[in-house]
Amino acid sequence: MATDSPTPPHRDVAVLVPAAGRGVRLGGPTPKALRDLAGEPLLVHCCRNLAAAPSVGLIVVAAPADAVEQVRALVPRAIVVPGGEHRQESVARALAAVPENFQIILVHDAARALAPPPLIEAVAQAVRDGHDAVIPGLPVVDTIKQVAPDDQVVATVDRSQLRAVQTPQGFRRSLLIKAHRAATDAHTDDAGLVERMGVPVHTVPGHPHALKITTPWDLVVAEAILRAG
Ligand code: CTP
Ligand code: MG
Repeated sequence: MATDSPTPPHRDVAVLVPAAGRGVRLGGPTPKALRDLAGEPLLVHCCRNLAAAPSVGLIVVAAPADAVEQVRALVPRAIVVPGGEHRQESVARALAAVPENFQIILVHDAARALAPPPLIEAVAQAVRDGHDAVIPGLPVVDTIKQVAPDDQVVATVDRSQLRAVQTPQGFRRSLLIKAHRAATDAHTDDAGLVERMGVPVHTVPGHPHALKITTPWDLVVAEAILRAG
């Protein structure tokens, strides 16, 4: 039915999910994305939150190379590719699998399995609104000191200008491709590649539930978040 009110674009966003890390800091034999959180693998929580965001039309997972079939069975609606040695390589492999009709691409760590759908939407919408690179960030709560190799404090950093950056990070497709082509060394996030090109990166408010599950303690926090609903 035709209507005069503008309808928001739906399912026009592809999300790359780097999930190929071993999870050394978490410990244990199972790759982190396949570790259990409240009865389901982290990756399943992650993809469920992504699929619940109305903008998301495609999920491409970079899986541990030795667990590709296992991951396909866990997330049957995603495209699954083998990940690489470093996160950046995993993202590049997933990027290569995105069909050309997706012009907005989000990159989202499987380790941030509880990033809520409204955060995912906010990043996608900011790209749609004309920001070609968008990252969510939270104000830093701790006092931050710069410290020298001899353990002496050099300075107190002005934390009002700092953000702890999360994923999903959103990009206009052409920019993300360019940034990965120009990449020379491993970066911990994709926005870092864009910054290096001198292209502006826009920030939107992050969300505490988008914490990166890194250590066993983070799993405890994640379980508490799920319990609290
Ligand atoms: N990642 C990836 N491919 C790699 C390394 C990391 O896809 N070769 C992914 C991880 O699966 C994770 C995200 O990048 O979803 C962020 O990385 P991190 O939290 O560091 O995860 P791991 O590398 O698995 O953890 P660790 O560094 O403790 O081993
Ligand atoms: Mg890592």
